[in-house]
Amino acid sequence: MDTSAAPAAGRIEIDGRIFNPYAKDYIREPRPVWQRLLRDYPLAWHKDLQMWLVNSHALCDQVLKDQRFTPNYRAWELAPPPKAEADKTDFDLAYEKGFFAVSPKDHLRLRKLTMPAFAKPVMAKIDAKIRDLVVECFDAIGEAESFDVYQTIASKLPVRAISRMVGVPTDKEEFFHEFAVNIIKATRINISAKEREASVELTKPGFAYFKAQIAERRALPHPGEDFLGSLVGASDNGEKLDDYEILSVLFALITAGSDTATDLHTFAILGLLSNLDQYELLKRQPQLMENAIIELLRWGSFGKVPFFRFATEDIEFHGQFIKKGQAVGVNISAAWLDPAKYPDWDRLDLQRRLDGNLVFGAGAHFCIGTYLVRVQGGLMIQEFIKRFPDAELLDGTGELDYDYQHHNARRINRLMVRTNRSSSSLQQAA
Ligand code: HEM
Repeated sequence: MDTSAAPAAGRIEIDGRIFNPYAKDYIREPRPVWQRLLRDYPLAWHKDLQMWLVNSHALCDQVLKDQRFTPNYRAWELAPPPKAEADKTDFDLAYEKGFFAVSPKDHLRLRKLTMPAFAKPVMAKIDAKIRDLVVECFDAIGEAESFDVYQTIASKLPVRAISRMVGVPTDKEEFFHEFAVNIIKATRINISAKEREASVELTKPGFAYFKAQIAERRALPHPGEDFLGSLVGASDNGEKLDDYEILSVLFALITAGSDTATDLHTFAILGLLSNLDQYELLKRQPQLMENAIIELLRWGSFGKVPFFRFATEDIEFHGQFIKKGQAVGVNISAAWLDPAKYPDWDRLDLQRRLDGNLVFGAGAHFCIGTYLVRVQGGLMIQEFIKRFPDAELLDGTGELDYDYQHHNARRINRLMVRTNRSSSSLQQAA
């Protein structure tokens, strides 16, 4: 299919001069770019990225709920040819059985069978399991006058929280971390084939470990009531999850739940300390926490590239013609700041009404990890408030640094915070 042909009549087109997700200026300050897209190009064909870009809240919501748009990249006209069966690694097989690769019918089955593992009785125990992790991260700060939120919290907590959720023993946490890092690396779009192969190779011990764990559970009369046990024991009319389906769930938790949570921690602290009235409000009204976390994610809007969908048939969409096989970028980061949905879009308002928000997506692929986000984010912010009620961004800016090479996020990899406003003011006065 030739997507580089002359513009179809009436096709609205943009290029990298309007939206370049890897430009440093955009990563530092994306809001003007998003506001222009929202105002002038709610839907447009991006010539350089060779995909449709959907920006407005209303249109993103529609695409996410429309099953004619699939997240399975095999439906993409530019997808590389599939590997021969014999060449497939555990990594490939776990990916193929996963949430983003299976048909809508199999996806529904997967969601149904994985539901017990994410249900309240299993999840309620996560709170206790990760509380000490949070405390440990804060203990490491000690009496320091300032510290880097990324190094001490954001880069440490998410993978360890997932490892606790999955039930990895403490002495295997480093091993799990290595597995997770390589899974994430191997799914990145901006690395060479050689680098990808090297990372896939390094995931092998992790897959072997979990296959053995699954086999052990299957051999027991009852697989257990923890997360892994719930996946092994799940049954729907006698149908069970096979090994690669269970591995695909682990794969999804790692890829969808660790990078996102890293950014949750940095952007939450950045949001609160650059809006001290809201920080004070949350201190006074801790019951706002759940709403606060969603609003902090919305306001921080840390994604830099859109989510992918691929058209499974020719689709007339709001006056534009999307051909079967074309990629569609759902730019939810822009949508979160759409004035049509949020007239005061730029304001952090922890009491904002957030009905119908797209922070965790919409439709069939709605985020499965919201409970872990609430627990992890809530515990971290609570502990931060308890220890540093008078914190402020160092030098008023927090000495922000971004990892410009990050594959999909506006990753802050340095956020300096002064632990105590009054002590620094006292020093200045002395
Ligand atoms: C911290 C913030 C997080 C945000 C903002 C977030 C957001 C999202 C969004 C927008 C989607 C939909 C993606 C799409 O439609 O293409 C999604 C899906 C998903 N998320 Fe999250 N997520 C977060 C954390 C987590 C965590 C901690 C986990 C796991 C423990 C997780 C697991 C998943 C999974 C497995 C899916 C795919 C579900 C499916 O396809 O059926 N997420 N998430």
